[in-house]
Amino acid sequence: MTFRHLSLLIIPVAALIAMPAMADGLVIPPVKDPVVAKECGACHMVYPAGLLPARSWSAMTATLGNHFGDNAELDAATLKRITDYLTANAAETADRHILRGLASDTVPARITDLPSWKRQHEKRDRVAPAALARNGAKFKGDCKACHKQAERGIFEDDD
Ligand code: HEC
Ligand code: HEC
Repeated sequence: MTFRHLSLLIIPVAALIAMPAMADGLVIPPVKDPVVAKECGACHMVYPAGLLPARSWSAMTATLGNHFGDNAELDAATLKRITDYLTANAAETADRHILRGLASDTVPARITDLPSWKRQHEKRDRVAPAALARNGAKFKGDCKACHKQAERGIFEDDD
């Protein structure tokens, strides 16, 4: 085994060991499929798939004709591609802390409906109207306004 091969093994292991040291931050994979990024980033930030359970993505993509009051309908092939991507990379495969406290028989429509999200934000007026306005956030789910690296899946103390 060459040194280069060895370092390919060591770097991921070192990253794993370093993770618990990063306080309470959340780091999940960003969307890597350009079709998902384009179609699902047209009206708001591109949400990393790991922010919702697979059942939420399935329900959402099945009802894009009325997506929070907007029409976000897609052709069948694009819809299948996006649904497959989001469900395959959902919270179950990312950081399961996101699902903490969520009853298995509920299908949250929004990230901001998740108990873990509420616990992190509904204290100290973090998403009160004044905080939204101060950060230029259009709604509570406008993560990127407050977490600059949200589309890259990085949510740390950055404000
Ligand atoms: C035509 C515009 C439009 C497109 C295209 C669109 N969305 Fe949305 N999306 C919205 C609107 C409007 C909201 C609700 C915003 C609000 O509450 O003010 C929303 C909300 C969301 C939320 C909830 C965020 C939260 O927790 O509040 C998620 C998740 C989401 N969209 C994912 C997607 C995905 C995945 C796609 C691609 C299939 C997509 N969106 C495409 C308009 C769009
Ligand atoms: C109006 C500003 C605002 C919006 C919008 C917002 N957050 Fe936050 N969020 C905060 C603040 C403030 C904290 C606590 C300090 C910190 O960790 O940066 C926080 C904490 C977090 C944490 C915990 C990080 C840690 O270090 O413990 C996560 C994860 C998170 N937010 C995810 C999200 C996601 C996902 C969205 C969008 C669906 C979002 N936030 C929307 C302000 C916001």
